[in-house]
Amino acid sequence: MDKFRIHGGVPLEGEIAVSGSKNAALPALAACLLTSEPVKLRRIPPVRDIATMEKLLRYTGAEVGVSRGDVTVRAAELGRPEAPYEVVKTMRASSLVLGPLVARTGRARVSMPGGCAIGARPINLHVAALEQLGAEIHQEHGYVEARAPRGLRGAQVQFDRITVTGTEDLLMAAVLAEGETVIRNAAREPEVQDLAALLNKMGARVEGAGTSIIRVEGVARLHGAEHAIIPDRIEAGTFLIAGAITRGDLLVSNFIPEHVEALSLKMRQAGVDVAEAGSGDGKAGLRVRASRRLRAMDITTEEYPGFATDLQAQYMALMTMAEGISFVTETIFENRFMHTQELARMGANIRIEGRQAIVAGVAELTGAEVIASDLRASASLVLAGLVARGETVLDRVYHIDRGYEKIEEKLARVGARIKRVS
Ligand code: EPZ
Repeated sequence: MDKFRIHGGVPLEGEIAVSGSKNAALPALAACLLTSEPVKLRRIPPVRDIATMEKLLRYTGAEVGVSRGDVTVRAAELGRPEAPYEVVKTMRASSLVLGPLVARTGRARVSMPGGCAIGARPINLHVAALEQLGAEIHQEHGYVEARAPRGLRGAQVQFDRITVTGTEDLLMAAVLAEGETVIRNAAREPEVQDLAALLNKMGARVEGAGTSIIRVEGVARLHGAEHAIIPDRIEAGTFLIAGAITRGDLLVSNFIPEHVEALSLKMRQAGVDVAEAGSGDGKAGLRVRASRRLRAMDITTEEYPGFATDLQAQYMALMTMAEGISFVTETIFENRFMHTQELARMGANIRIEGRQAIVAGVAELTGAEVIASDLRASASLVLAGLVARGETVLDRVYHIDRGYEKIEEKLARVGARIKRVS
């Protein structure tokens, strides 16, 4: 198992470019199952979760070709419309194939995900939504079995709670359902919007993605298309925090600044200089500069456009060294504070009360051996390591490889002393 060795204390300087979005690429790959024609996706990040999704598509019968960031999927025949436990247990987003498989083939068998490091994460809302489109769904032996032998029918669906992949799953089913589907209380994340853009290129009729009401007029079939995935706003946010925590001068380029507005606003309030900037080739980005100790600023995670839960751990790392006390409230997942004990081992002063972490800023962090428990927790420990005095050794780096493309190489190019060791 790989580890990172990090020597903290170097202000990051230069430019760092953002890769394609993992969480937009995953539903886009699942959407390829909706047509027998080839779909070419560009800017797919070569991270582990994507490799897992590609494996899953192949398992169902699709052909998947990968060449330098482009992935072409041809789902001519889907002889095995299933997502087995071995795959689902390593990646919960596998449930994204449920909607497309049942819409395309009239049946699907998808393993139910178990609990995970950040919370229970059930898929009951995906299931209830597909049932409203007429799918007959049974759950047994740890699997969700869906059938719609006569096809799906459009319906009015109101989500009880906002769910990102639940909205995406339903959207992918609705595009091939007969008649109109209206999705209310839909997730407004940019990844949902990107999926709708791809589906429309494939011949779907989707309106309103990016708002909480999405209307879909079902079509009989979809065709091939080509689409470039949006940049990864969570990777971008992680690098913005890296620039600030090391008191560096970093240009994070090649992404859509509007997608990280909740974060950049907080960073400005905390005392970071955040400016809109294009890189040499005109690609949009933000330049962060921080030269003095930051002020503590509270955050509460919310659905988009609120503060992203996927940036909570990284933001907390930033607050561990701010002046004053900050309250970090997590409202999306019930157990997403696993990084706090590890940050405490590096000298952070954090107390957990229910869904709130109370962070009292300290003057310095010190390097330690720490263990990552999930993807974003690992990112927060890398950030803490970049500023801690002495050496930090981060174990279980495979978590970070699920969602960040060569993070250690990108950080090293802007001055970080970070090395991967086996
Ligand atoms: C997506 O997960 C992301 N994953 C997550 O990113 C992200 O943290 C999350 O949205 C919230 O923004 C992908 O896009 C692949 P939800 P998802 O359904 O869709 C509850 C990362 O680090 N819920 O919006 O699974 C659920 O338990 C990852 O990249 C139900 O109760 O999240 C949670 O409390 C981790 N029943 C809340 O809703 C359901 O059927 C929101 O979860 C579905 C969800």
